[in-house]
Parts: sequence; structure tokens; C-alpha cells
Amino acid sequence: MKSQDRVAIITGAARGIGAAIAKNFAERAYSVLLVDANAEVTETASSLGPHAQAFVADVSSTDSVIEAVRNCADRFGSVDILVNNAGISPKPNGVKTPVEAMDRADWDRVMAINLTGAFMFCKAVIPFMRERGWGRIINISSMAGRSRSQLAAAHYSASKAGMIGFSRVLAGEVADAGITVNCVAPGRIRSPMAVEHGEQLNIEAMKRIPVGRLGKPEEIGALVAFLASEEAAFITGATYDMNGGEFMG
Ligand SMILES: NC(=O)c1ccc[n+]([C@@H]2O[C@H](COP(=O)([O-])OP(=O)(O)OC[C@H]3O[C@@H](n4cnc5c(N)ncnc54)[C@H](O)[C@@H]3O)[C@@H](O)[C@H]2O)c1
Repeated sequence: MKSQDRVAIITGAARGIGAAIAKNFAERAYSVLLVDANAEVTETASSLGPHAQAFVADVSSTDSVIEAVRNCADRFGSVDILVNNAGISPKPNGVKTPVEAMDRADWDRVMAINLTGAFMFCKAVIPFMRERGWGRIINISSMAGRSRSQLAAAHYSASKAGMIGFSRVLAGEVADAGITVNCVAPGRIRSPMAVEHGEQLNIEAMKRIPVGRLGKPEEIGALVAFLASEEAAFITGATYDMNGGEFMG
């Protein structure tokens, strides 16, 4: 398959890391469906040229996930690459909620978006990938799923650790169909999520990062693009840390 024929779905692609991944893919002439609950995803897709299209959907809704994948197949003919990137990390007033104060509803919402949404997208795209005998699934986890987090709460850390366990099992199940499943675990990346509670948290974070700065969304985009490439065919069930040396697993 020529790279121009590849079709990718990226969730949470209106802004931040997801938008950077979409830009990288669009520059490789992949057809890209940008999925996001935020209607601004339409503008993001428009900025990426004719092969990028938007679909407004909440990844925690099973019906919306199925509709998004069907829409991608109708527009572009198939789905070859899935990047599960949509995620939330609720921190009221910039402070993580301790488990003892955490509501069941908050826990459920984080799991539904960060983990169950990825599970449902994988289920929906795998039949298309099996049909072509080729597929790449990249799940965006977090350093908070790899080690105790200074900043993220337990629901977020659990969802991101869950993403890694889920990906390993799925990788073993679909490897014989030419489908790889890997995780990327970013440290602190300068996206809208990382700046919404002010710069002080980032100044503190930078003191813990040997490289001495936050990561850039486009750096995650480059790693995801490699994992989505032909050259990465022998990599599956792996988790790639990208954190400026803050956590060395
Ligand atoms: N920025 C970081 O420091 C960092 C670190 C580790 C992991 N991550 C992970 O990277 C991913 C992207 O994060 P980001 O920093 O770009 O965040 P962001 O908040 O800037 O962007 C996330 C995007 O996901 C979308 N989204 C949220 N809920 C959704 C839903 N229910 N359905 C569809 N779309 C939804 C948002 O509208 C937004 O466009 C997330 O999974 C996040 O947990 C980020």
C-alpha cells in the first residue's frame, strides 16, 4: 500500500497533541479523520488541506464511535491507522482531587473518555484492518500511567495505566493480522491541557525534567508517525516514554 492511500482516525484532534499528530499525518498525504467533541475540530481539519476531514463526536458514546468509524470508511474507503488520543485530566482549580474526595461520577467520566472510548474505537476499526491485513493502533497513555504522578489524580493515572495493559493484550490478539498496537506515554507536553492552570505548575515541572523544558506536541506527533509507519512493523505491545528524562522506566 502506498503511504498516500493510508487512512487514519485521530481522536481528540481539535487541538494540542492530537492536532499535531493530524498535521504530521496530513503532511505525509494520509487521509485523516479528526474526531473531537469540540466543534472547533472543523477549523483544525480545514487548516490541514483537502485530505483532512472533521467529525464531531464524544468518544465516550458507543453510538458516536461506531458512527465516526462508519463515516471514515464511507469518506475514505477504510481505516488503517487509529490514534486514541482524546483524554481529560480533571483538576479543579489546578489541584488533583484525592481519592477520598473523588466522586464516583468523576471516576466514571475519566474512565469512559480515556479508556473505554479507546476500547470501543479499537473494536470498531479492527474489522477494517483485518480485511486489509495491515493496521496500526497507537494509544496515548501518559507518564502518569507509568509511575506515581505529582500532578494527576488517581482516576487519570488508573485510566492511563489501564491503556497500557489493554494495549498489550490486544497486541497479542491481532498481531497475526498484521496489526500492531503500541502506547506512547508523554511526560509534560506544552498543550492547552498543560497550560490551562497557569505557568507555575510548568515552572515546577521543568525543575524535575533533566532536559529542562516541556515537550512539544509535534515531538509526540513524530513518534506516533514512526509507530504508524511500515518500518515499525516489528514493534507491538510496547510503550514508548517521551518525557525529557523525568521518568526512566
Ligand atoms: N499535555 C500533556 O502534558 C500530556 C501528558 C501526558 C499525556 N497526555 C495525553 O495526551 C492526550 C492529548 O492531550 P493534550 O495535552 O493535547 O490535551 P488537550 O486538552 O489540549 O486536548 C485534548 C483534546 O481531546 C478532546 N476531548 C476531550 N474529551 C473528549 C471526548 N469525550 N470526546 C472527544 N474528544 C474529547 C478535547 O476537546 C481536546 O481537543 C490526552 O490523552 C492526554 O491525557 C497529555
